[in-house]
This record gives sequence, structure tokens and C-alpha cells, in this order.
Amino acid sequence: MKQLKLVILLLVTVVFFMSGYAMANKEVSNPEAKTKTKMQSKQITAAEINLPTEIRMALIKEMVKLETDMQELLSCLAKGQSKQAEETAMSIYQSFIMKQELSKKQLEKLPKLLPKDFVQLDRNFHKNAKQLAEAAGQNNFESAMNIYNQMTSACVTCHKNFAAKRFSGLAVQSN
Ligand code: HEC
Repeated sequence: MKQLKLVILLLVTVVFFMSGYAMANKEVSNPEAKTKTKMQSKQITAAEINLPTEIRMALIKEMVKLETDMQELLSCLAKGQSKQAEETAMSIYQSFIMKQELSKKQLEKLPKLLPKDFVQLDRNFHKNAKQLAEAAGQNNFESAMNIYNQMTSACVTCHKNFAAKRFSGLAVQSN
């Protein structure tokens, strides 16, 4: 039983990484998608964000949960589990852990601490999660996967522009 669980876990991980690879390839062969990404990165002003420790910890906590939720979401989509996919995407949409964990005073400081483009990326990301939830809820898996692609691109775009020191590998990526 334990072994079976392990095999399933391994399979899910492999599917997750393979789909990431496939998406990366698709983006290259899809000129429209490429222009969009390029346009997006052109408009963004990269910056290194320096958050006070408690705020940074809340962001990291949100990121760790996000990573798990995204894996879960992909598994649901891959298996055509409309209801679960919808719920997981909604949970991503609502997961502003930062908002839940921070005091009112800290929240008031946030707009000054975060660059405008960072906030915009974050907002888009959460908006996408809601759209994905709707698509999945209607069994529209093709649209759901397209949105999922955009969401994974947003991980890289944001990390590349706002956490380049932490994820230095992204700074040297070839286009
Ligand atoms: C709007 C910006 C933004 C988006 C979108 C974003 N991240 Fe992040 N993420 C960050 C920043 C900034 C850090 C660096 C935090 C630090 O170390 O100070 C980070 C850190 C992380 C970490 C490291 C957490 C740790 O253990 O320290 C993981 C994992 C992560 N992100 C996953 C993801 C995934 C997966 C996605 C997309 C599904 C994503 N992020 C989307 C901004 C973003």
C-alpha cells in the first residue's frame, strides 16, 4: 500500500515536470504566445524587493502553499476532475496568505514596499486562477490548461524580475 502511494506520487511528479517541459516547447512554437511573453517582460521594470522579515516569511509561506496547490491542480486537470480542479483553483484565487497573516499596520505598508509591476503580476495571477476555476467547473479543460500555462509563466516572470538574486538561474536564461 505504501509502495503504491509512492509510485502514484512519483508518477504525478513526472507528469508535472513533463508538462512543464511540453509547455516550454509549445511556447516557442506558438508565435503568439511568445510575443505576449516578450511584451509582458518589456513592460516590467525589474527590481529586487527587500521586505521586512515577517512580511518576507508570509510571502514565502504563500509561495510554498502555491507550489503544492499548483501541483494538485495539474493532477486534477490531467485526470479530468472538474470539481476538484475548480476547488483547488478557487483556493489559489483566495490564498492571499500574506493578507491573512499580516497585521493591519503591515498591510498598510505593503503598497510602498512592493513595486507596482509586482502587484500587477500578482493580481493577474490571482485573476487567472479564478478564470481557470470557472473553465474547469464547466469541463472546459483545454481552456483551463491554457490558463494554467499562463500561470506557470507568471511564476518565472515574477521570480526573474523580482527575485533574481534568490533564483539566479533565471537571470541567465536564454530567450
Ligand atoms: C508576483 C510575484 C510572484 C509570482 C507570480 C510567483 N512568485 Fe514565487 N516567489 C516570489 C518571490 C518574490 C519569491 C522570493 C521570496 C524570498 O525569498 O524573499 C518567491 C519564492 C518562491 C518559492 C521559494 C519559497 C521558499 O521556500 O523560500 C517558491 C517555491 C515559489 N516562489 C513558487 C512559485 C510558484 C510555483 C509560482 C507560480 C505558480 C510562483 N511562485 C509565482 C514571487 C512570486
